[in-house]
Amino acid sequence: MNHLKSLLAASVCLTAIGGSALADKLPPEKDLSGLEYELIGRTDLYDYRALDSYSEAPFLADMAAEGKLPAVKDRLPKEPLVFKTGAMVDGTGEYGGVFHHVIGGRPEGWNWLAGQHQGWGGINMAIQECLVRQGPRWQIKGEDQTGPLPNLAKSWSWNDDNTQLTMHLIEGAHWSDGDPFDTEDIRFWWEDNVEDENVSSRLSKGSLAPGAKLEILDEYTFRWTFSEPQSETLVENLAYIQGCPGPSHALKDKHPKYNPDATYESYTNAMPGEALPVPVMGAWVPVLHKPDELVVMRRNPFYWKVDEKGQQLPYFNEMHFRLSTWDDRTTQAVAGSGDFSNMENPANYVAALKQSQSPDSPVTVRFGKRALAWRLELNFSDIGAEDEVDLALRDLFRNKDFRIALSHALDRDAIGQAVARGPFAYPYTGGFTSGSAFFDHDSTAYQPFDQAKANAMLDELGLQDSDGNGIRNLPNGGDDIEIDVIFNSGRNETRKQLDAVISQLGEVGIRVIARGLDKTNFETARLGGAFNGMINRRGFPTLTREPCNNMPISESCPFFHQSQNGERSLLPFEEEIQAAYRTFISSNDNAEKLQMTRDIQRLITENAYVIGTIQTPAALLVNRRIKNAHPGTPVYMFEWAEDGIIRERLWTPAAEQVKELLPGTIAEY
Ligand code: GLA
Repeated sequence: MNHLKSLLAASVCLTAIGGSALADKLPPEKDLSGLEYELIGRTDLYDYRALDSYSEAPFLADMAAEGKLPAVKDRLPKEPLVFKTGAMVDGTGEYGGVFHHVIGGRPEGWNWLAGQHQGWGGINMAIQECLVRQGPRWQIKGEDQTGPLPNLAKSWSWNDDNTQLTMHLIEGAHWSDGDPFDTEDIRFWWEDNVEDENVSSRLSKGSLAPGAKLEILDEYTFRWTFSEPQSETLVENLAYIQGCPGPSHALKDKHPKYNPDATYESYTNAMPGEALPVPVMGAWVPVLHKPDELVVMRRNPFYWKVDEKGQQLPYFNEMHFRLSTWDDRTTQAVAGSGDFSNMENPANYVAALKQSQSPDSPVTVRFGKRALAWRLELNFSDIGAEDEVDLALRDLFRNKDFRIALSHALDRDAIGQAVARGPFAYPYTGGFTSGSAFFDHDSTAYQPFDQAKANAMLDELGLQDSDGNGIRNLPNGGDDIEIDVIFNSGRNETRKQLDAVISQLGEVGIRVIARGLDKTNFETARLGGAFNGMINRRGFPTLTREPCNNMPISESCPFFHQSQNGERSLLPFEEEIQAAYRTFISSNDNAEKLQMTRDIQRLITENAYVIGTIQTPAALLVNRRIKNAHPGTPVYMFEWAEDGIIRERLWTPAAEQVKELLPGTIAEY
C-alpha cells in the first residue's frame, strides 16, 4: 500500500535512528494481507457544487408535495457535497431498504459534545459529522496525501506564516430538524465545550495547538489563530471523533453558561438515551431506542450530500443497530442477519473464514494488515489512588526498570495462542502497530520474553518476596505487589489476554487482579484516569487519531498520566514525546515529520510507556447484497471501516432490499 508515499519517500535521506543501539528487535512479520487495488486522486471521491436538479427518496418527495417538508432543493445546501460516480465500485444507487448493524456497545446518551458515546460500532459515526474526514483516505494515492478530506468544512486556508487557519463551512445546510447549520454551532462546540474544562469534550482543551483562539468571521467562516506556526497535519485533529459540532440550538439552554438552573451533570445528560429524536447532521436520525435491543434510525431529510445524478443521499432509508455483543456482530454477519462486521476477535477467524468460503455464503471476508493491538497501561498519575499502597504502586509504574521488567515477563506468543491458535498474532510493543504506514522496525524497541531477566530486574529494584508468600512486596517489606487491572468485560479477546498476563506476571511474583467493568464504567475510569492498571485494545495507526490515548499532548493526556489539580511532572522521555508531537503537527518539512514519528516510536517502545501484548489483523465482513462497498476498505487505518466504507453511498438493489420497520416515516421533532 503506497499511501503516505510522499511523506515516506523522505525516509531515504534519514539514517535509522537508535536502531543499531537497540538490543532487542521484533522478529520479522508475516503479512496476511495482499489485496491490490487502484488508488485515486484526492478530488476523485467528491467535491462541492450545485447541480441542475435534485431528486430524493420517493416517500420524501410525496411529503414535500403534501407540504410536510420543504422542497428538496431548499433542504440542500447551496453547493451540496457531490459523490462522484467514477469512484463508486457499483455506481449510483437505488433508494430504500435497511442496513443492519450489530454492536456490542450501548448508547450512553446522545450528547457527544459532552463526550458521551452512542455505543460505537458505527452508531456514533452515523449521527456525527465532523469538520473534516479521515476514514476514506485509505483510498487516496500517496502524492495526494496532503491532509484530511473536507466534510462540513468544505475548504480552508492558512496565512503566510501558518499561524492562522481559516475554514469555510458548507453554506445553507440544515440539522435534521431543519435548523440552519452555521458558525454558531462551531462557536458553541469550541467555546462552551472544548474550552470549558468542566465538559469532557473529546477534543481536550489545549490539545489542538498552543494558544489556539477561535474567531467567528461570518455565518459560514471562522478562524483559529495559534501562537506558533502549524501545519496541515493539525487539521486531522478536526475529524471524527474530535471535530464534530453538535446542535447548539438544542443544547445551549441546557448548558450552565446559559441556564442558571443547569449543572454540568445535567448538561452532559441533556440528550438521554431514550429521548429521541435528536437533531443530527448525519445521514440517519435515531428515532427509536429499545434498551438492550435495538436502535432504529431513519433517513435524514436534510442530509447535505448527493450523487452526481442529483439524488439526495443516503440510499438506505433505515439503519438498524441491534444491541448485542461484539462476537455476535461477526456471527450475524456470517449468517447474513447482519450486514457488516469488523471481525476482530481472532478466536472467530477460522470458523468464520470456513463458513464464508461456502459458495452460498451471504458474506464477503477480507483480511487487512495488523492494525488491532492490545496493551497494558499503568497509571503514572496519583488520580484515584485510594491508599498508600496505590500511591506506592503508581511510584513503581513511573519507574522505567519496573515497566521493562514487566514487559520481559510477558510471553507474547503464548498470549497470542491463548486468544486464537494459528498465525494471527504478532508481538506488540506499544507505539505504531505494524500495519501502520508509520511503523518503522528499526525505531521499535522490543523486550522479548525473558523471565530470568525480569526477575533479576525486579530483584534489583529491591522488590523481594519478604514474607515468602510467592508475591513480591513493595520496597522495604511493604504490602504485596497486587495490581488491579480493569478491562471491558464485553471483550472476550481482552479477557483471554488478561488471564495469560495474570499467570505470566504471577510467575515473576507480581499479582494481578482482574476487574471487569461494563463499557460505560470502563470508559469513565479510563477517561477520568482513575485506575491502577488497565488492559485494553488500542490501535495506533497515525499520530493524530485520538492522540490523547497515547501521548502527553495536554494536561489531561494521556489518560494514564493526567495532571491533578493542574499539576503533573512529566518524565523526561514524556517531555521528548510531547516536543516531537508538537514538531510533527507544526512542521512543513516531510523529512522532519518522518523523523518525529520515528522518535516517538523509539521513545514509547524503549521506555515501555505502555506494555504491548499482541497485535492482530482484522477482517471486514460485508453482506453481498451491499453495493458500493469497496473491497479494499481496511477495518482500521485512518479511521474505522464504518467511516472508510462511506455508508451514505452504500445501497441494495430494490429486489434484494429488506423490509423497513418504519416505512414512510421521518424523525418528528
Ligand atoms: C468498536 C468496535 C470496532 C469499530 C468501532 C467503531 O470499537 O470494536 O470494530 O466498530 O467500535 O467506533
